[in-house]
Amino acid sequence: MKILVVGGGGREHAIIRKLKESPRVEKIYAAPGNGGISKDAECVDISAMDKEKIVTFSKENGIDLVFVAPDDPLADGMTDALEDAGIRAFGPHANAATIESSKVFSKNLMKKYNIPTADYEVFDDPKKVMSYIDSKNKYPVVIKADGLALGKGVIIAENRDEAQAAVKEIMQDKKFGDSGNNVVVEEFLTGPEVSVLAFTDGISLKPMVSSMDHKRAYDNDEGLNTGGMGTISPNPYYTDEIAEICRKTIFEPTVAAMNSENRKFKGCLYFGLMITPDGPKVIEYNARFGDPEAQVVLPRLKTDLVDIIEAVIDERLSHLDIEWSNEAAACVVMASGGYPLSYKKGIEISGLDENGQTDGATVYHAGTKFENGKFYTNGGRVLGISATAKTLDEALDKAYSAVKSISFDGAHYRTDIGRAVSEEKTD
Ligand code: AMP
Ligand code: GLY
Repeated sequence: MKILVVGGGGREHAIIRKLKESPRVEKIYAAPGNGGISKDAECVDISAMDKEKIVTFSKENGIDLVFVAPDDPLADGMTDALEDAGIRAFGPHANAATIESSKVFSKNLMKKYNIPTADYEVFDDPKKVMSYIDSKNKYPVVIKADGLALGKGVIIAENRDEAQAAVKEIMQDKKFGDSGNNVVVEEFLTGPEVSVLAFTDGISLKPMVSSMDHKRAYDNDEGLNTGGMGTISPNPYYTDEIAEICRKTIFEPTVAAMNSENRKFKGCLYFGLMITPDGPKVIEYNARFGDPEAQVVLPRLKTDLVDIIEAVIDERLSHLDIEWSNEAAACVVMASGGYPLSYKKGIEISGLDENGQTDGATVYHAGTKFENGKFYTNGGRVLGISATAKTLDEALDKAYSAVKSISFDGAHYRTDIGRAVSEEKTD
């Protein structure tokens, strides 16, 4: 098979490396890909948002399957455009991707179908938001822009001033553009967070192994929210008992709810969960693999990913057994100095071999380019260094020793990925 992967970050690199393991795959293309991906796939210079060019390229090159990985093209109808042109695609249709691209939609869905989530109200008028927040007078309060905002449209306001500043930024200054026309104001929940990605064909749902993201930029969960600075899998808070509650109260009801709304979801459905004292609740849905969750979940997948993708597209997932390794996995993201705010690009990376790899771990490239035999930084998140091992501690040791062998000016990474978990375990 010839497969085209749409996207060009660490998640896409992890998807491509997994696809490469399949004996069914003859050739992989990436649009646009990146420096590291170019060692595993042929990169084509087409934007991940360019539906017309992706369709034309797929037709001209006899592509058998397109894997649409990022949120924006899914929300914009890339899967619909490909299917209309007779090309098989993995990823939800636009009307189902709304579960991620509109928080107002997803919150209303959960309310209508009794899926546990934080209490909330939706507003389109900044004055009404503040009078609501004043009437509750309970802090912290969570304020979210409705639309996609690169994981940065969520503000946890500790007091009235912060709430007012957030409302102004989102609704009046339009920091996230039209994403901020509506806001969701939510009750603040507490408890450990768990990411569960699941394959679903709209009929049955098969959860993957669990993971834990680290969203803040700095150690001890300080600094701004980022796209994700590191992950571990499995997530120790996700016990069998919690998994069973999630299946009954969240996963299956969500698939059914989307069907009832005539928005059948086919693809990878991502549940961002918080295990609160009142049980697991949904913080957010994503319509795709997480990044860097994919970098710890996919390395543990033993079943041929192409078989799974086809079972999802053809709606026969319930007949397929999906196998996972019992090993633990860890991923440490190396980011550009300054990320998630402004940062420089084009800085030479040292410590990588000619394939962009290093000994003892797998290097997933998130934002790199390859020129004249060298790798350079080309994004906020630059590399995700992943390793698997029998225990989490060993996986972390392997990932961190590989991180220490790689460097670029201004490189920043968290030194405490998975540490809270591994310390709790040994206490
Ligand atoms: P989201 O983009 O919706 O996943 O939100 C980003 C992060 O903000 C989450 O991973 C949580 O850490 C935090 N967050 C979002 N909603 C809430 C909430 N209702 N209560 C507490 N923390 C939240
Ligand atoms: N790592 C969080 C996300 O992909 O949304």
